[in-house]
Amino acid sequence: MEHDTVRALHWTGEALVLLDQRRLPHEIRYEECTSAADVANAIETMIVRGAPAIGIAAAYGAALAARRYADPQMCEAQLQRLAGARPTAVNLHWALQRMRAKLLDGADAEAMAAEACRIHDEDVIANHRMGRLGASYFTARGAVLTHCNTGSLATGGYGTALGVIRAAYADGRVSCVYADETRPWLQGTRLTAWELQQEGIPVRLLADAAAAALLRLADVRWVVVGADRIAANGDVANKIGTYGLALAARAHGVGFMVVAPGSTLDFASANGDAIRIEQRDPEEVLALAGQRLAPAGVDAWNPVFDVTPAELVDVLVTERGTVERPNRERMAALGA
Ligand code: MRU
Repeated sequence: MEHDTVRALHWTGEALVLLDQRRLPHEIRYEECTSAADVANAIETMIVRGAPAIGIAAAYGAALAARRYADPQMCEAQLQRLAGARPTAVNLHWALQRMRAKLLDGADAEAMAAEACRIHDEDVIANHRMGRLGASYFTARGAVLTHCNTGSLATGGYGTALGVIRAAYADGRVSCVYADETRPWLQGTRLTAWELQQEGIPVRLLADAAAAALLRLADVRWVVVGADRIAANGDVANKIGTYGLALAARAHGVGFMVVAPGSTLDFASANGDAIRIEQRDPEEVLALAGQRLAPAGVDAWNPVFDVTPAELVDVLVTERGTVERPNRERMAALGA
């Protein structure tokens, strides 16, 4: 059984329809984007989120720009607008670069849309391959801990880390999925819990602060996470809190697996220090569900990603193959 029914993006041939992830799980509402500006706005406001899904959305945004503007310079301005929507996920720039190359090749609107659909399809194929590769590391049945949302909602479909968990669950190797709530945006509580529930996979939420205790006390075999950008030396930028999980996993002898497609690899960044970390509105920390909790006048630090040093990663799974204990030399085998 595939345990894979949720989809975040749908191309109608004329518009990009997005499942509005700000409203999940209590409201299933779709947002239609008919221009590149609509797509850029959807990425900025997190209607669509998750590195691969952002890249795919941007590719469709470029296709919409090609439908609207015959002038390549006008199209390029729309590509720039899309590129500025969020800074950390390199998939956004990778997808736009692929769309730009088509545009420079003289592709018409139809060919641009076909390229965006290819990017979307290839992502799903990559996820299935990573699912199998990653699940092969689950040699005994046990629990797994994940962070943020890396499933169908964050990708073209199936998911990266959640794809591995899906595949391992189908093999009977996962007794329970523990999902961090993932403060402050609550991707775990709102999205991962919902997505796994839709698929009939048992899920148990925990506060982010409970993760280290869970790894000490419970039968967790693997911590499995995704990535927004992986540098040439194997350093991993991912949702804030990932670094702490990697430290806790190493301290307790629990495996730490990162799952990400080739479109997340950034060989132009020598190491994690070169990765720009998105800072979002302090209100995301100061308030909860629109309700202000912190006293007036208090500020907050809200970096939404962190960098996990490569030496804390036990295995990196990509569709190009797996790399154990990544470093610059082993990463090079994945190709630039
Ligand atoms: O801020 P988000 O929700 O876009 O962050 C998402 C993550 O950090 C995911 O772990 C990452 O993009 C990988 S998704 C397959």
